[in-house]
Amino acid sequence: MKKITKAVFPVAGMGSRFLPATKASPKEMMAVVDKPLIQYAVEEAVAAGITDMVFITGRNKRAIEDHFDKAYELEAELAMRGKDELLRIVREVIPPHINCIYIRQTDPLGLGHAVLCAQPVLQDEPFAVILADDLCDGEPPIVKQMVDVFAQHQCSVLGVKNVPRDQTRQYGIVSSTKLSDDLEWVNGIVEKPKPEAAPSTLAVVGRYILTPRIFHHLQNVKPGAGGEIQLTDGIAALLAEEKMLAYRFKGIRYDCGSKLGYLKASVALALKHPEVRDEFAAYLQSLK
Ligand code: G1P
Repeated sequence: MKKITKAVFPVAGMGSRFLPATKASPKEMMAVVDKPLIQYAVEEAVAAGITDMVFITGRNKRAIEDHFDKAYELEAELAMRGKDELLRIVREVIPPHINCIYIRQTDPLGLGHAVLCAQPVLQDEPFAVILADDLCDGEPPIVKQMVDVFAQHQCSVLGVKNVPRDQTRQYGIVSSTKLSDDLEWVNGIVEKPKPEAAPSTLAVVGRYILTPRIFHHLQNVKPGAGGEIQLTDGIAALLAEEKMLAYRFKGIRYDCGSKLGYLKASVALALKHPEVRDEFAAYLQSLK
């Protein structure tokens, strides 16, 4: 039985949909209420029992490394001022048993290429891929749900949701055969099809468990949609060899790569945040 202990976080993207906010700082560091997107993603991995976080970074992304490092000056300052609660929050950003590994993707050749950059660390283990701008909120957390599916079936698992047909152009779309209420056998997958060409409306939304055989295929795929080496194309090639599941996870996914999705996530998570939820709910009420 293989266990998932490593997660890959492709964070080298430019974040052009959020300019100018992302001109000098990574989109993954944008905060929803009080935590950056990348921290939500890492917490989701930790909750799934994952211990090794592999970040595929690029230029202008150093803030991510700093975020998951010890902040000596800040901690000393907070300790000196007796701000114990804040000190605890800062220290808990990365639990002691977690390893962070950073690999630079020097050329922005696509998501598939970013995942391929993790091969030296992952070798022949199955692993998770987590896209931080897809903020997923569920209980148990979504990656944990998927790790459980993997534990049972020992095959690649794609996190999927139904999307409106006019949005298929934004996603990897699967064709599948139903196995149970929340599981489907994947028959095919295509990156960003036009609505009229999409095989279904079941979209992959930023959560993957993949077997290491994917690396073999990522080495061979040619540039696809948008001229990039697409993870979806590697997955399509893997499908010819291995069975694969699509899992309709329980929970909500916010597209924090878009302004509207980011705003929705901010409102939804603020309404759950113990410090601000009551006043914020009253404020929203007052706007009606
Ligand atoms: C990427 C993947 C796509 C997936 C999507 C989920 O696209 O290529 O298959 O459905 O993430 O958010 P991107 O959003 O980077 O264009």
